[in-house]
Amino acid sequence: MKVTEVSHAGGRYPVYVGQGLLGMDSVWQRHLDGRVLVVSDETVAGLYLDRVTASLEGERRWRSLVLPAGEEQKTVTSWQRIIDELVAMRAQRDATVVALGGGVIGDLAGFAAASYMRGIRVVQMPTTLLAQVDAAVGGKTGVNHPDGKNLIGAFHQPAAVIADIDTLGSLDDRDYRAGLAEVVKYGAIRDERFLSWLESRADALNARMPADLLEAVHASVTHKAEIVAADERESGQRALLNFGHTFGHALETITDYRRYRHGEAVAVGMVVAARLSELLGRLRVGHSERLVHLLERMNLPVSLPGDIDRERLLSLMRLDKKNRGDRIRLILLEAIGQATIDTCPTDDIREILNRS
Ligand SMILES: NC(=O)c1ccc[n+]([C@@H]2O[C@H](COP(=O)([O-])OP(=O)(O)OC[C@H]3O[C@@H](n4cnc5c(N)ncnc54)[C@H](O)[C@@H]3O)[C@@H](O)[C@H]2O)c1
Repeated sequence: MKVTEVSHAGGRYPVYVGQGLLGMDSVWQRHLDGRVLVVSDETVAGLYLDRVTASLEGERRWRSLVLPAGEEQKTVTSWQRIIDELVAMRAQRDATVVALGGGVIGDLAGFAAASYMRGIRVVQMPTTLLAQVDAAVGGKTGVNHPDGKNLIGAFHQPAAVIADIDTLGSLDDRDYRAGLAEVVKYGAIRDERFLSWLESRADALNARMPADLLEAVHASVTHKAEIVAADERESGQRALLNFGHTFGHALETITDYRRYRHGEAVAVGMVVAARLSELLGRLRVGHSERLVHLLERMNLPVSLPGDIDRERLLSLMRLDKKNRGDRIRLILLEAIGQATIDTCPTDDIREILNRS
């Protein structure tokens, strides 16, 4: 087991990464307080809820709430169900919400904990690779509005994060690979040595070897922890985490969130951003190919299908309110392992999209 401490304005919390952690009550029970509500989704509950609740049996008063799975459940209605359950169990300010699931459950249960009685404790137990390396760390919580993703939310740091890598074994192949794209992102934006390590261990990671997963999740969590400690509310450094995301979001939107997993769209977006960095003379010519090869080995998409309307993509990218005139704000690479934020001419982005 590896532990990373995350510092934030209001204190600090541990992120445990290891095998068999869900059943290790000695590790996580100390982060609970008061009555406990375990929130999960139907898929995850069927696989892992017993492991967690078995450790809760005994003195402590607890309940569980199982919601249907999927992004469409990340709504105010599901949030209300969690709040209703907390009211029904007479949870007080010392109560704890345990979020057992992927990023959807983490965001939902985290937001319920942020808002119930103006904030109660949440322990994140992420069960997808994306949630372990990204969503569970950093304190962003929230739900979707019919008019936009994550429109309603709050910053609410967890009391602890328990990332049991054994849970990754049951993940759907596409969900697993989509998580790998976010792992590659950390290497691309701030750690060339980590990227080299990923290149050397790509086969082992594809096979989900526990020792390699432990290393990859731990390294990613450490990167996320360093970034959010430096910039909790996303004013500077945290924006670098958006590498590949402006384009990725446009691709997800244009395909109605049906064709791509978030991480898959980000994989294509990272390639576009790296090639653009070359065109603008920031990244040495040829270096974006390193990223392309690694993502390809992880069976992630690296190019845009022919049926995607490039001009519509560009106008979706322009919608971002931080853009000015004919320039779009993007995260670019100065080198593999070194990112920067800048505005780019729309014409250059168009050229890259037409080549991708
Ligand atoms: N808060 C943040 O900082 C942050 C960061 C990135 C993403 N997010 C949010 O995270 C969400 C996406 O997260 P996600 O990709 O984890 O999606 P998800 O929670 O929908 O999980 C994906 C699917 O995998 C299933 N699943 C989860 N764990 C499993 C396991 N161990 N074995 C088998 N199946 C399992 C789920 O039931 C679901 O069907 C989005 O809503 C996004 O906005 C939040």
